[in-house]
Amino acid sequence: MKIVQISDTHISHLGGSPTDNAVRVVEFVNALQPDFVVHSGDVTILDPDEDRDRVAAREVLAGIAAPLRVLPGNHDVGEPGEEPFGDRPVTSERVAAFRAHFGEDRFVEEVGDWVVIGVNSELFDSGLPEEDEQWEWIDALPALVGPRPALFFTHKPVWALRPELQDPRLSVGPQSLPRLESALAALDVRAYGSGHLHHYALTFRDGVPVVSAPSTAFVHRGAVSADIVGPGLIQLGVVEYVIDESGALPFFRAPHDLVEPEFLQVEQARLALDAMGVVLPA
Ligand SMILES: [Fe+2]
Ligand SMILES: [Fe+2]
Repeated sequence: MKIVQISDTHISHLGGSPTDNAVRVVEFVNALQPDFVVHSGDVTILDPDEDRDRVAAREVLAGIAAPLRVLPGNHDVGEPGEEPFGDRPVTSERVAAFRAHFGEDRFVEEVGDWVVIGVNSELFDSGLPEEDEQWEWIDALPALVGPRPALFFTHKPVWALRPELQDPRLSVGPQSLPRLESALAALDVRAYGSGHLHHYALTFRDGVPVVSAPSTAFVHRGAVSADIVGPGLIQLGVVEYVIDESGALPFFRAPHDLVEPEFLQVEQARLALDAMGVVLPA
């Protein structure tokens, strides 16, 4: 059995290399013939209030042949914390707009004898009513899932390897982490997968693989990603989890013909920043 994780497609209604890459990746993922596909968020280029990007992303992702679930990233619903990117905090309205296009922002799916769980990481530490609803749902997971082996996906990584980087802009927020950890302890999680950092890394916690998935859109060279999730590959691609009774084995996979720009080399990203009124430090 095979599950593929794609992440951080950052699709724009203006097209450009992230969108072209996503089209190429859809074809590549179909060739892998997975049983299930998870998109771990940042579906749209940058602005959670730009519906035209959601429409464009839905069109591209509709090409995926396998069953697909999509999680929101901070660029899809905003983010928690004191200084959300582009002054776009996560709000009920933004979560509702995501759900209207991509379905529920959390899920449990049965894939063979396994379950695939997805959670909206942008709600942790947000204080929104949707956070309380998600906690109730998380607390009920052990009863729902039972002893079945599980894969657990979020946009932001559950853990930062350095505790001072456990920050809602980078990972699950520090206030929510202990409660999430105790919920996870009641499940038989066989692999964790996240996105957000545009950096492929594989580490282990108690023998369980913890994967930071690459983006398919652009890379952040020289960023702090390695401090958060461990050294890895600053390349574009997808993650394939090959699953058998011994566990879930993650593989980095990539088509050879993706365009791999830095964030600010992407014209559509610069246009989106301008439209959002974001001025980046020189
Ligand atoms: Fe991203
Ligand atoms: Fe992100």
